[in-house]
Amino acid sequence: MERTLVLLKPDTVQRSLSGRILARFEEKGLKMIGLKLRQFPKETLEQHYEVHKERPFYANLVSYMTSGAVVALALEGLDAITVVRGMVGATNSREAAPGTIRGDFGMSFSNNLVHASDSPEAAATELALFFPDAAEVVEWTPNNEPWIYNVGEELNK
Ligand code: CMP
Repeated sequence: MERTLVLLKPDTVQRSLSGRILARFEEKGLKMIGLKLRQFPKETLEQHYEVHKERPFYANLVSYMTSGAVVALALEGLDAITVVRGMVGATNSREAAPGTIRGDFGMSFSNNLVHASDSPEAAATELALFFPDAAEVVEWTPNNEPWIYNVGEELNK
């Protein structure tokens, strides 16, 4: 099983879309293992977007991400990183395919509703940044797991 970090950005919370977007991940069969609502400090978002430090949109991005409440979500599932990235869609919401979260709910490049880790390395770093305390991540087994995955094919490996 793989783990990934999702952020529901301030536009998602302000537009009252948090529940609907969270439901998409639940309905897909991804397991929620961490969930918190915070107005995260500037230092956290600066560290999170460190790779974009030299990009022209960086200052605006950090200011927008610290402007309000953000939901941090840790998800677990088989190939969770790729699955979640596919559900989120292209970075520019205007170009994101219909059926993706950005394609269905967004019109902006910057206010693109969600962030999702793009690699196993990024997921590990980002999960440690937003869920630094091991107690914030819950290990649990969904009762319906043998129905979400095939027992012979994907579980018991
Ligand atoms: P996210 O997936 O969180 O990663 C970087 C964020 O920067 C991106 O989503 C957008 O919100 C924002 N952004 C704004 N302009 C650009 C751009 N030109 N290229 C990439 N990301 C951008």
